[in-house]
Amino acid sequence: MTASIQPTSYWLIWSLLVGLCPVVISNSQLLKSPNTGEKELTKEAYLATLDPEIKKAYEHVEFDSPEQIDKAFADILALQNKKSWNETYTRIKSKIVTKTKKKINESVTLNIYSQKSSKSRPGLYWIHPGGFFFGDTDYEDFMMQRIAEELDFVVVSVNYRLWPAKYPEIFEDCYAGLRYVWDNAEKLSINKSQLAIGGASAGGGLAACCALRARDEKNDKEDKNPIEINFQWLIQPMLDDRTNLPSTVKLGLSPGWPSEANRLAWKHYLGGNYSKEHHPYAVAFRAEDLKGLPKTFIGVGSAEIFRDENIIFAQRLLDANVVVELNVYPGVTHGVDNYRIDNPFDKVAEEVREVNLNALKRAFRQ
Ligand SMILES: *[C@@H]1O[C@H](CO)[C@@H](O)[C@H](O)[C@H]1NC(C)=O
Ligand SMILES: *[C@@H]1O[C@H](CO)[C@@H](O)[C@H](O)[C@H]1NC(C)=O
Ligand SMILES: *[C@@H]1O[C@H](CO)[C@@H](O)[C@H](O)[C@H]1NC(C)=O
Ligand SMILES: *[C@@H]1O[C@H](CO)[C@@H](O)[C@H](O)[C@H]1NC(C)=O
Repeated sequence: MTASIQPTSYWLIWSLLVGLCPVVISNSQLLKSPNTGEKELTKEAYLATLDPEIKKAYEHVEFDSPEQIDKAFADILALQNKKSWNETYTRIKSKIVTKTKKKINESVTLNIYSQKSSKSRPGLYWIHPGGFFFGDTDYEDFMMQRIAEELDFVVVSVNYRLWPAKYPEIFEDCYAGLRYVWDNAEKLSINKSQLAIGGASAGGGLAACCALRARDEKNDKEDKNPIEINFQWLIQPMLDDRTNLPSTVKLGLSPGWPSEANRLAWKHYLGGNYSKEHHPYAVAFRAEDLKGLPKTFIGVGSAEIFRDENIIFAQRLLDANVVVELNVYPGVTHGVDNYRIDNPFDKVAEEVREVNLNALKRAFRQ
């Protein structure tokens, strides 16, 4: 009589294989981008993946032609030139938080948001979004004030050079601001053991790059005053210049930040080096060694192109023994949490902000 494999054994073998997957897939495999032959979803299929409130906002919007996307990008640039962000985004002013500006040099200015108190507190160094092209620190006053008010953090956000500046200038500006915060922590009432770095979108990618450099400098025995970051707070970070993971292809037309805009932004940022191998300080995803990075929160929408690069980055950090919280907001597109007077999805935006703020609040819990 020959032994036969029972269905239960099949199930067992299968679940063992599946269970082993995270171990079997190595860091270097996760770094590679698979050629999966994915196709862009149709607008209808894409809309079916959205949160109902967001779906309602986008149902009647044209966003399914490359021309539309080019136009949207041109509009964004025009808006930057008009400098009308302050009116669009600044909604309220806190009564207990003061905002001061500190100019470091011609290219770097910091906004400092803080409650009046000399008590040593957690600090957040924040890098604004905008694809290396647009945005500035002031248009996020609302969120920065809220973090200073509700969480009692000292928040420092950086105004850095934008396009036509590129790598390494933009990165150097961001790092210079971080260096200032570290060297002046006591004056700012920041507890040096409770310093977080954060950013959204391109700012999230820049924050991850700053954390990599701080980690490297800490390992370098020559550095006499290395910056120590204790928490990374990455909101829908822009991490991978290759723009070819499955979500980047399938959700390519997603509003908020479509693949074409992402490619253009990376192309401008990396200049003549675009599509080549990159230094991790230029493209965080390209870092092979993620060991020794600070505890990390990553939040990303399930309906945006950054979904896969964020999930894979979280997986790679976990493999490198970094403590990670990963939140995938269901049905959410890119940048919904931005404060805007005309935000058509206020309810889901606030839900996203609350998830993010909770993670920051828990970061330095004793
Ligand atoms: C926004 O900026 C414009 C142009 O710089 C200026 O005229 C306007 O007063 C500003 N509005 C606010 C609310 O700061
Ligand atoms: C400002 O300082 C940073 C860091 O030292 C430097 O990279 C940048 O070039 C400086 N900007 C100007 C305009 O000198
Ligand atoms: C600074 O932060 C550390 C680590 O969270 C904490 O143990 C310490 O009590 C804090 N110091 C002050 C003065 O709050
Ligand atoms: C490409 O990268 C190299 C090495 O980092 C750098 O020296 C060079 O200036 C870069 N070229 C451009 C066009 O950015």
